Amino acid sequence: MADTLANLLSETRQFPPPAELAANANVKAEAYEHAEADRLAFWAEQAKRLHWTQEWSEVLDWSNPPFAKWFVGGQLNVAYNCVDRHVEAGRGSKVAIYWEGEPGDTREITYADLQQLVNQAANALTALGVTAGDRVAIYLPMIPEAVVSMLACARLGATHSVVFGGFSVEALSGRIDDANAKVVITADGGYRRGKPSALKPTVDEAAERCASVEKVLVVRRTGEDVAWTEGRDVWWHETVEKADTAHTAQSFDAENPLFILYTSGTTAKPKGILHTSGGYLTQASWTYNAVFDLKPDTDIYWCTADIGWVTGHSYIVYGPLSNGATQVIYEGTPDTPHRGRFWEIVNKYKVTLLYTAPTAIRTFMKWGDDIPAKFDLSSLRLIGSVGEPINPEAWIWYREHIGGGRTPVVDTWWQTETGAIMISPLPGVTNAKPGSAMTPLPGISADVVDDEARSVPAGGGGFLVLRDPWPSMLRTIWGDDQRFIDTYWSRFGAGSGNGEDWIYFAGDGAKRDEDGNLWLLGRVDDVMLVSGHNISTTEVESALVSHPKVAEAAVVGATDPTTTQAVVAFVILRGDVKDGDELAQELRNHVAKTIGPIAKPRQIMVVQELPKTRSGKIMRRLLRDVAENRSLGDVTTLQDSSVMDLISEGMKTGK
Ligand code: WT7
Repeated sequence: MADTLANLLSETRQFPPPAELAANANVKAEAYEHAEADRLAFWAEQAKRLHWTQEWSEVLDWSNPPFAKWFVGGQLNVAYNCVDRHVEAGRGSKVAIYWEGEPGDTREITYADLQQLVNQAANALTALGVTAGDRVAIYLPMIPEAVVSMLACARLGATHSVVFGGFSVEALSGRIDDANAKVVITADGGYRRGKPSALKPTVDEAAERCASVEKVLVVRRTGEDVAWTEGRDVWWHETVEKADTAHTAQSFDAENPLFILYTSGTTAKPKGILHTSGGYLTQASWTYNAVFDLKPDTDIYWCTADIGWVTGHSYIVYGPLSNGATQVIYEGTPDTPHRGRFWEIVNKYKVTLLYTAPTAIRTFMKWGDDIPAKFDLSSLRLIGSVGEPINPEAWIWYREHIGGGRTPVVDTWWQTETGAIMISPLPGVTNAKPGSAMTPLPGISADVVDDEARSVPAGGGGFLVLRDPWPSMLRTIWGDDQRFIDTYWSRFGAGSGNGEDWIYFAGDGAKRDEDGNLWLLGRVDDVMLVSGHNISTTEVESALVSHPKVAEAAVVGATDPTTTQAVVAFVILRGDVKDGDELAQELRNHVAKTIGPIAKPRQIMVVQELPKTRSGKIMRRLLRDVAENRSLGDVTTLQDSSVMDLISEGMKTGK
């Protein structure tokens, strides 16, 4: 970490906002002062951007920390705020979604269309027995029905749990079970790399294991044959598309659960991050307006994330739609049918605001400058990055080759848990430095602290923490308040028995530079960051050990130029099993099947022993040294130091 740091901190280039953007920016420098003077008044002002049917009596109730209530007593309907109010304001004919299927089929959905679709889906879900408070699992490709399904749940006060379409049966059934979802919304399949990729068989297998599932609602997308369970399965086109297009939205409490989204932790069981309604929508909506500087009449926005991640929730669905944006949604992969597909889409729709991830940017860099150069990208006026630290080279490449050397780059730091952007430049205010997420947004108190929760001085490094509650913060881990406290609130502050203030531990390392800007350095715990996704070492280890040939496994994240970290696994085979050429492939496939292809180890090493402490804890730090070809760090706590010689030797010979 120290080496990376030295490089980062020597970065002196600065990019001030273009004059015209600065002059017309939605949010100016005064916002920092307003929020500084009165943080709660600042957020109350932002909440007024939404339509409330009942005003709140208190902005924040923090009387039972770390359990926050924002906009206490306020009532609203989230879907009404994202759809109906734009139609009622005369903007029904404005395009909400330009949808581009991977095979090249397209759909154009106006806000008036979206209103009808959401109403129909709400009526159909009601007929399937969904009422306020129920959980609905959504396992769909990137098709408009995914947006419609989420909004229909929101409209009914039901809680959605979107599960990424790339996840396996185990992952899906675990998530359905944990939330006790009553209905699953899926499709026959979606298009991925030029081919139909089935989803329904995974749902069929998951539903068999999950007693809570009463109905499965199926969108026909690819037209491939699907198995059918009478009485349980219903087609979208036979129910939703036949349903009444009128539906009266009810209001729900500001703290009504809006969604659960699962994120990997250090233990095998994913955490169901719970977000609620009023505070979440306030911050998703305001940050979208502030960070992307949306001009609803002229901007065309495109976020390339999947709806199965929090970026899709906050910056495809709730942020943009609550602001009445026009956006592009693309179903497929960036290299289908060719490596210029993204730039073709930017050009086709004249995209002005683009939001993507460093892993994608590094891939584009690898594919070559000549590919984006073939397309006219001059419509772009602002480009954003999210998901992991963006190194200065990638930032500069992004600005030069995609942003034409003109556009601000907004590097946005946040998490599934934070619900919305927390640290980011303001495009009309900040002199951005390549590689830094710069400063906390107005109303957010982020800090970098040492082991004792003391703020580090300029030039210092430590742990990123959040000192005050924020509107879109997670409210708990679904069904596990204790784990919520243990994971986020017990490292520092009151929850650790030190002082009166509750301090949120983000789990990221960070540095504060001489000018007070923040540089994010990745996870401090054992979670690996692979292509922008957090994958837990323990989860992959559990998957490996679930294979009949494996006795024990240890997994580490090794630095990888493309994916940030790559999964490297060390396994001990069961007694009578022989190592062979097929074995590694078999284990890699097993991990893909159990967790998802994203968790596939890049390398699998068969070893005789694992380095362990005397108390039996695996020393992943040493394995990481091996995986990254470094000389070993401190081995004094190692139970048997000859183990490491054997492992290092095996790594060199590829055995
Ligand atoms: C973790 C959260 C937020 C949506 C996507 C990921 C890393 C995220 C940045 C950034 C440096 C970043 C952090 C964070 N991260 N954005 N701009 N710079 N690191 O959501 O899966 O909950 O992961 O992603 O490590 O803690 P997530």
